[in-house]
Amino acid sequence: MSSVVAVGAQWGDEGKGKIVDNWAASANMVVRVQGGNNAGHTVMVGDRRVILHLIPSGILHPGVRCVIGNGLVVDPAVLMNEIDALRESGDKVDASNLIISHLAHVILPYHQAIDVAREKWRGSAAIGTTGRGIGPAYEDKARREGLRMADLVEPDLFKRKLKILVEEKNAYLTKVLKAEPVDEESILDKYSALGRRLKPMVTHTMPVIHAEIRRGGNVLFEGAQGAMLDIDHGTYPFVTSSNTGAGGVCTGAGVAPTDIDCITGICKAYTTRVGSGPFPTELNDETGKRLRERGAEYGATTGRPRRCGWLDAVVLNYSTMVNGFNALAITKLDVLTGVNPLKICVKYKRECAAFHEDFDFRPEVLESSTPIYEELPGWDEDISGARKMDDLPEKTRRYLKRIEGLAGVPIIAVGVGPGRDETIIIKNPFGLGKSVG
Ligand code: GDP
Ligand code: IMO
Ligand code: MG
Repeated sequence: MSSVVAVGAQWGDEGKGKIVDNWAASANMVVRVQGGNNAGHTVMVGDRRVILHLIPSGILHPGVRCVIGNGLVVDPAVLMNEIDALRESGDKVDASNLIISHLAHVILPYHQAIDVAREKWRGSAAIGTTGRGIGPAYEDKARREGLRMADLVEPDLFKRKLKILVEEKNAYLTKVLKAEPVDEESILDKYSALGRRLKPMVTHTMPVIHAEIRRGGNVLFEGAQGAMLDIDHGTYPFVTSSNTGAGGVCTGAGVAPTDIDCITGICKAYTTRVGSGPFPTELNDETGKRLRERGAEYGATTGRPRRCGWLDAVVLNYSTMVNGFNALAITKLDVLTGVNPLKICVKYKRECAAFHEDFDFRPEVLESSTPIYEELPGWDEDISGARKMDDLPEKTRRYLKRIEGLAGVPIIAVGVGPGRDETIIIKNPFGLGKSVG
């Protein structure tokens, strides 16, 4: 019985939703810890495609308790829609299988308006945010001016706090950003109603998570975004506004580092990125297009085409170091079928003598860095039916072995298709303990 962390090892969209859904079959609890509805986690159950933005990817398993932790920024309208859509499909979602931290911060319409107006203001220097109000909501949290779920569900408190905030936000929106103001009355009506509906699920989640750990349950912590979008360790300023790695699990759920038994990195067999910012192994050619089409690389949240490129082992090594991965899940290996030869970036050549550090991911440093590739033979066989390592062609296994060798971390799962069961399970992460890796 153990606690397992699953976080993205690259720039997000690694297939965390699919892997978490798969592992959730052995979990008692699945906990989201940071981010908000900038995330889009896809779970395929037969022909049904479910994209989860806020609700943990364990929700489709009856008996699994899902937790929206204190580290998230929650848009109550998006959350309510997500709950209603699942209910309409026949899935049970109520306080018995979904709880929301009363300490989680609330995204309100002015956050979204500021996010969108700021991106416009930045022009060609735009970050390419999802426009969901994530940055402005975390900013309010850091400024100690944010509203939390506990405020949203208490009508008098909400009304009082909202009034002061709307005044300030509207001044900023209209005078500085030259954007439209938001309407206090309509926010109050709509969000008070949402607060009433969500109230039964809003609680102090931290003690509930600890009780599950102490009881000996299997707890799975689900990261959003990926290591390179981390506000401290990513390609700042082209990042999100939270700590997307294993460290974010501790602060975002209120658990101690010693409560965690196993940290897994979810890593695509190649690399993608949505939005602006440096991407050393990006392919602006036919191979890049092919990966986008075969991998259906279009954003699960915004529908934007994802930028595609080769696997970057420098990035993987860095995220392994920052997060302390004990094990890896490699996803979307099937997408590489027919690409020959395959390339993996093993090092960067730094043009600028002032920058020597390998793990320097500042955009200005990456701009003067050229990837050095190692070539490996590709394969042509359809691998989507593989369910164990022996089912894979020798060249495919060689590619995986090379990833393991470069990262120095064992691979415990391999994705060979989007379907729930299109996965080679080498080891179950629960029960692996701290020693793997
Ligand atoms: P997340 O944000 O990390 O959960 O990833 P997304 O859901 O945004 O994007 C991953 C996409 O790849 C989704 O469309 C998944 O259905 C799909 N996917 C996940 N694993 C695999 C895989 O092993 N093979 C293929 N072909 N698709 C996969
Ligand atoms: P999942 O959990 C991929 C990117 C945005 C943008 C930057 C900042 O599905 O992997 P934000 O709206 O957070 O202020 O945008 O971060 N981004 C993601 N990219 N997957 C995600 O989530 C992302 N969440 C944010 O595209 O470049
Ligand atoms: Mg996604």
